[in-house]
Amino acid sequence: MKKVLITGAAGFLGSHLCDRFIKEGFHVVGMDNLITGDLKNIEHLFGLSQFEFYHHDVTKFVHVPGKLDYILHFASPASPIDYLKIPIQTLKVGALGTHNLLGLAMEKGSRILIASTSEIYGDPLVHPQTEDYYGNVNTIGPRGVYDEAKRFQESITMAYHRFHGLDTRIVRIFNTYGPRMRLNDGRVIPAFMGQALRGEDLTVFGDGSQTRSFCYVDDEVEGIYRLLMSDYTDPVNIGNPHEITIKQFAEEIIKLTGTDQKIIYKPLPQDDPMQRRPDISRAKEILGWEPVVGREEGMKRTFDYFKTLSKEELVKTEHRNFKDRNRK
Ligand SMILES: NC(=O)c1ccc[n+]([C@@H]2O[C@H](COP(=O)([O-])OP(=O)(O)OC[C@H]3O[C@@H](n4cnc5c(N)ncnc54)[C@H](O)[C@@H]3O)[C@@H](O)[C@H]2O)c1
Repeated sequence: MKKVLITGAAGFLGSHLCDRFIKEGFHVVGMDNLITGDLKNIEHLFGLSQFEFYHHDVTKFVHVPGKLDYILHFASPASPIDYLKIPIQTLKVGALGTHNLLGLAMEKGSRILIASTSEIYGDPLVHPQTEDYYGNVNTIGPRGVYDEAKRFQESITMAYHRFHGLDTRIVRIFNTYGPRMRLNDGRVIPAFMGQALRGEDLTVFGDGSQTRSFCYVDDEVEGIYRLLMSDYTDPVNIGNPHEITIKQFAEEIIKLTGTDQKIIYKPLPQDDPMQRRPDISRAKEILGWEPVVGREEGMKRTFDYFKTLSKEELVKTEHRNFKDRNRK
């Protein structure tokens, strides 16, 4: 049985990846320090002999006994509301955490896939973004902690690939959504859905003309799986190229949820990108991949998930593990 280590396993994407690899017949080792994740996302796997879990911070030395065929490094805060609260941990997991996992991959002879992001393109001056675009990032802005951690992560991964011949893959993930996102993580989809469920008006930052493109989680996981199994070692964008303005999107959510809320406008946060859309030509050509779940269907599945949350969860504003935590 092939064995895979997934870091960030209790998070949104990590937990869906655990499900996918279990389904594919792998032995899955999940690792997470639960800083933004939740064991609830993987509790259905605990009874399986194919699954084991390590509660561990990957910025510390990482050891996993036995062989490891694959490593997927997904540990990292991913939403602005998280990484602005834990900026140093964000830099550390991108830098030290990645270094530790590359070392583990060297020791075990594993293939390693690194979760990078569209944020490495910053506020892009090229649209849509191809993998050849170098990006437009403010290194010293508040969001720089995430963008630069991920840029360093890509650089060190390529250095291990070129210098040590390590078998590496880099996925540049664009906004992904679906069940198990945290309602209070500040990203636009849970934010709008949470407001709709609480009966509040929907808050749009800026005039709502900024665009995003949202990829349903099953499509994202399929792209990641195909990239891992491919021979391709340069970065690949995996995201949905159907672009929408935030205002249009708010209107769609109001329609979907059948509520009569209004849209209210607040100032745009610093360095919030104005446009975001992946060019997925490379993924199509190399992986034969493109998204298949339409926004209407994906949003419906996501809203159905949020409807199952308790009243207490609907009003929670901060992840419990941010409290009383050493933020060094
Ligand atoms: N969701 C997206 O739209 C998106 C977009 C681009 C990139 N990504 C990348 O995908 C990965 C997962 O994102 P997500 O949306 O699932 O976020 P998430 O916050 O739901 O999951 C991240 C997980 O990593 C864990 N973690 C953080 N620091 C850790 C550490 N030092 N040691 C061990 N575990 C740690 C958290 O507890 C959490 O379970 C991240 O690397 C993120 O940068 C996500």
